[in-house]
Amino acid sequence: MYPELKDKCALVTGATRGFGRAIALRLADEGVNVAVNFRRSMTEAEQVVDEIKAHGVDAFSVRADVGKESSLRKMFDEIKSRFGRLEILVANAAWGVPGDLLNAKPKHWDITLGASARSLLDMTQLAVPMMNGWGRIISITSDGGQKVLPGYGVVGPAKAALESVTRGLAFELGGKGIVVNGVLAGLADTKSFRSIPGSEKVIEHARFHTPAGRIIKPEDIANVVAFLASNQAEMICGHFVTVDGGRNIVG
Ligand SMILES: NC(=O)c1ccc[n+]([C@@H]2O[C@H](COP(=O)([O-])OP(=O)(O)OC[C@H]3O[C@@H](n4cnc5c(N)ncnc54)[C@H](OP(=O)(O)O)[C@@H]3O)[C@@H](O)[C@H]2O)c1
Repeated sequence: MYPELKDKCALVTGATRGFGRAIALRLADEGVNVAVNFRRSMTEAEQVVDEIKAHGVDAFSVRADVGKESSLRKMFDEIKSRFGRLEILVANAAWGVPGDLLNAKPKHWDITLGASARSLLDMTQLAVPMMNGWGRIISITSDGGQKVLPGYGVVGPAKAALESVTRGLAFELGGKGIVVNGVLAGLADTKSFRSIPGSEKVIEHARFHTPAGRIIKPEDIANVVAFLASNQAEMICGHFVTVDGGRNIVG
């Protein structure tokens, strides 16, 4: 438990399922009030809100497409009127067009990088004035930012850009009480992963080659996000903590 997180307010993007849902619930467990962002899945978002409220904290769902700046502005207005402040921003949502790079169209690039890297920048610009000198910004990346993952297409460059934005923000905000880091997540069996061509085979392969004996679960990511939000992690600055059961140490 991290008592300093009690009564803080957080926004978790893409919190209807997968990593985002687990992160939202884990923060609620620490006494954090949570804005549950969704784009389409309103019913699921409301279910997560109910689960969070069962922890005795405040929560509400807020629709926004993180790839659209006007949509983000509206979301932050809603957060301001509901919470009046925001201390923790978890940039988890990502949306993109997988496939081969050679088939990628300019609009695929724009959509994918917009929903990932540019949205982190847009949200940080909106969030920092609401942080009042204590803040945490945490992004979620994958192997695809540094390695070629077949079928990942423009999602790889989007994750690389997200990582670079994370480091740049850590540099600019480090002296202002706002700690910026990320989690590099290993493969988990979620809906977005299943949308990548050949995902079933990749999951089977990863299960076999992960030293920890299983692929990761969303809760594994959520535990590390809670740690990065805590004061225990305040001297980690601009880094990505790898949570992959050791998959990356195996060739
Ligand atoms: N799963 C993996 O193996 C893996 C590995 C490494 C990193 N990651 C990263 O972890 C993050 C979460 O992935 P996940 O696997 O948990 O995905 P997921 O289970 O498919 O959930 C995606 C969430 O993002 C929301 N979302 C998608 N596009 C959005 C947009 N434009 N604006 C707002 N919300 C949006 C979805 O809400 P709606 O349904 O309402 O659209 C949903 O809540 C992503 O950044 C992903 O790249 C995943």
